Amino acid sequence: MDIKKVLVADAVDSACVELLRKYNIEVDCKYKLTEEQLSEEIKAYDALIVRSDTKVTPKVIQAGQRLKVIGRAGAGVDNIDVTAATNRKVVVLNTPGGNAISACELTCALITNLARNVVPASVSLKAGKWDRKLYAGHELYGKTLAIIGLGRIGKEVALRMQAWGMKTIGYDPIVSAEEAKEFNVEYLSYEQIWPKADYITVHTPLIPATRNLINAKVLNSCKNNVKIINVARGGIINESDLLDALKSGKCGGAGIDVYEQEPPTNEVTLQLIAHEKVVATPHLGASTSEAQVRVAVEVSEQLLALTGKCKEYTSTNGVLNRNVLNDSN
Ligand SMILES: NC(=O)c1ccc[n+]([C@@H]2O[C@H](COP(=O)([O-])OP(=O)(O)OC[C@H]3O[C@@H](n4cnc5c(N)ncnc54)[C@H](O)[C@@H]3O)[C@@H](O)[C@H]2O)c1
Repeated sequence: MDIKKVLVADAVDSACVELLRKYNIEVDCKYKLTEEQLSEEIKAYDALIVRSDTKVTPKVIQAGQRLKVIGRAGAGVDNIDVTAATNRKVVVLNTPGGNAISACELTCALITNLARNVVPASVSLKAGKWDRKLYAGHELYGKTLAIIGLGRIGKEVALRMQAWGMKTIGYDPIVSAEEAKEFNVEYLSYEQIWPKADYITVHTPLIPATRNLINAKVLNSCKNNVKIINVARGGIINESDLLDALKSGKCGGAGIDVYEQEPPTNEVTLQLIAHEKVVATPHLGASTSEAQVRVAVEVSEQLLALTGKCKEYTSTNGVLNRNVLNDSN
């Protein structure tokens, strides 16, 4: 693939640009462009690199007369219209593995915070209170953690929380019970999981099968006081049902990093974030210096692999519309 000029439209770590320039690819960085401006700019480029701020709409893709690749430095391509890109034979790729450890570590931090009320106790102390009884917690040792989605992040979460003495159970349609056993996760059906779990953490993509996966019916079949964690994608947990379960006391707490709407403005999400038993972070799963460098390098490496000119970079494992790639070869 002939890639001479690349536009970086979001603040991707400088390692991305450095690597491309090392191989004589011309790179321009132009941030915070409107759809109109991007549609004009894109005409001069063979490839576009974004993080999550820039929306790559059908209009932008249509305007990209020489556009061959859209790369996302991150996991998931929610901000890229993959159908429009595929129709125009533009390859779309992401860097799915680059931020797995960071997302996993935030998940573990939310679980441990929920167990020991770290956030509300700290807020209370800073407000001048000394409330030791109110913020008494519980041990994670011996508790059961259900992991829904045993891919890259789910598996890493299992390994770390086992070190805390948690029993790990889980489900994933493409992982076998034998594979799950290799990393000490007991493979169970959803119906078996819900009544056993003290904590439930979701690590699936947001697809029709996982939208509203954790809903009122599921929450009702869980143990009283169950804790819910979502560092995957907003929409996997039904926010309205979770809020009701928190209000009724059925759910004992939630750790949430991702929302149905980001940044959130709808009433239900705002109430959820404000709930005293919720620890909420603003989509920080991948926000570590290490992950940002990793995804920046990974997106460039894949672009270089697509040019076919660099022997050291051959992997294009983040390509989503592989049929476009096959057709172009
Ligand atoms: N909060 C953040 O900033 C952040 C950072 C990185 C990743 N993520 C998100 O975390 C999620 C997991 O990422 P990953 O890298 O582990 O992905 P992955 O593809 O490695 O794993 C996802 C797993 O979910 C499984 N799955 C699909 N449908 C399922 C279902 N109905 N029930 C149970 N499992 C199901 C898949 O089979 C797969 O094994 C993704 O949604 C990703 O976008 C969020």
